[in-house]
Amino acid sequence: PVAQRVSDLLGRMTLTEKIGQMTQAERGAIDADQSQITTLGLGSVLSGGGSTPAENTPEAWADMVDGYQKAALATRLHIPILYGIDSVHGDGNMVGATIFPHNVALGATRDPKLVADVEHITATETRATGPQWVFAPCVCVTRDERWGRTYESFGEDPKLVQQMETAIDGFQGNGSSDLAKPDRVLATAKHYAGDGDTTFGTSTSGTYTIDQGVTITDWQHFQQVDLAPYVTAVQQHDVGSIMPSFSSVQWTDRADSTPVKMSANKELLTDVLKQKIGFDGFLISDWEAIHQLPGDYATQVRTAVNAGIDMFMEPNSAPQFEQALLAEVQAGRVSMSRINDAVSRILKAKFEMGLFEHPYTDRTNIGTVGSAAHRSVARQAVAESQVLLKNSNNALPLKASQKIYVAGVNANDIGNQAGGWTVTWQGQSGNTIPGTTILQGIQQVAKNVTYSADASAPTAGSDVGVVVIGETPYAEGVGDVGNGHTLNISDADRANIDKVCGAIKTCVVLDVAGRPQIVTDELSKMDAFVMSWLPGSEGAGVADVLFGKKQFTGKLSVTWPRSEAQEPINIGDKNYDPLFPYSYGLTTRR
Ligand code: IFM
Repeated sequence: PVAQRVSDLLGRMTLTEKIGQMTQAERGAIDADQSQITTLGLGSVLSGGGSTPAENTPEAWADMVDGYQKAALATRLHIPILYGIDSVHGDGNMVGATIFPHNVALGATRDPKLVADVEHITATETRATGPQWVFAPCVCVTRDERWGRTYESFGEDPKLVQQMETAIDGFQGNGSSDLAKPDRVLATAKHYAGDGDTTFGTSTSGTYTIDQGVTITDWQHFQQVDLAPYVTAVQQHDVGSIMPSFSSVQWTDRADSTPVKMSANKELLTDVLKQKIGFDGFLISDWEAIHQLPGDYATQVRTAVNAGIDMFMEPNSAPQFEQALLAEVQAGRVSMSRINDAVSRILKAKFEMGLFEHPYTDRTNIGTVGSAAHRSVARQAVAESQVLLKNSNNALPLKASQKIYVAGVNANDIGNQAGGWTVTWQGQSGNTIPGTTILQGIQQVAKNVTYSADASAPTAGSDVGVVVIGETPYAEGVGDVGNGHTLNISDADRANIDKVCGAIKTCVVLDVAGRPQIVTDELSKMDAFVMSWLPGSEGAGVADVLFGKKQFTGKLSVTWPRSEAQEPINIGDKNYDPLFPYSYGLTTRR
């Protein structure tokens, strides 16, 4: 019946209404009285990073989304909108949500069931507060940790990423009949494809930036590494939408080796993804991604629609997009059959999600946002993701009776612990996030704890030093600005290691970062070294493994290089000689 309902509705729609369904605007760009939703007949609205209601509470979110829905239902055919948001590690835009470890940490758990549970909670908290659609999971395969979005990847091995695609089931449930439930959302596998496999540096064709760059590859490698997670996402998990990448592909095994932006790549979007792999959901372009295509705006719109993109994230230019596409169709440069295909895919999702029957937010689960039950799953995910990389002299587990000296800014900052895509997108206002810092987690177990961010307090009498090093949050782009965009640790962190490890007999170092940092010269100063990744709101999960309440079981989801010059370095490479290999991780006995 869904197919029949789609074709019935499509048959009653004007061209303008169809184009409206293909358009997504940012909530901040819509006029205050929301009449643009009705006049433009928008198919979707999104909250870009940090785009929240004035009062950032679960109820205010649901009221806001319902307000937009009311405007959409005032259109001639009463077609509901889909509201989309980046819930990439919990509903990070909403104060009070449970914030989970980022994907690179979830990959380290090697626990696909846990990942499904995590995303089920994310779906529950997101849908109960309005949005029915998430731009997650990122199923990128990170191949070069200089890429700033490494933390959004489950890991460097496509097989690991494929295993963790239980994330899609966590979001969507099993089968399209679950999509209408109040604890499920439509998922987006992103960014199709090769976003984590771009080339860094210079080649004969020029200089490459690693984010939104060029994947220079032959077909075999592309298929095995970059495409594989999408085959799984479509064929095993029936993912509802896919977001094409900002990046380009350049073939090394073809005569024509010009880089082609993914938004223009008809072969990869239509011939491979939709026809060969069998994707029957819809493609959503990334934020103004089509503006990066060659030519004037009309050409950009035409190229992307004809390549196979179905819905357009045009946050600030919805009216211009609709006009341009209308003119292209009227001029015969975009076919009606392409428009009908795109709109059918979007309507199919809306019918399956039950939006025609229940357009407004079902708030049954709103009271569970940030609940103790949800936080306990997050805490479990934190504990399972910790990777023990060194443990000499039985430094770990710590004992509650020890006098513990904690140093480092990242020991007591939930914003830094959460990382990018949190509250203000980049996470800088992170201390508004309810939860537990790593320091507080330690203090819940040990009673004799001294904290000094810069290690200036006296160390005398301490049994053990815990130095928390790491990065400050970043979302898209080049990575931690504070560290000069590099994998190197900061001067302040190096000084803390020197001071604390030089003064206290037993020294444990924790790294709170989205990717490996270069610690080759510091490692011999530490008794124990733990990769804590970006744990999110439940820092107590770190204390669980530090004190032996739980064993360390995490395994590296990416290779740990000796130096930045070793990048890109991945398991299976020739002359593979990292500081710690992929999958490395020790355990402690209780
Ligand atoms: O979903 C994101 C994408 O990952 C990067 N650009 C913006 C999108 C919407 O916020």
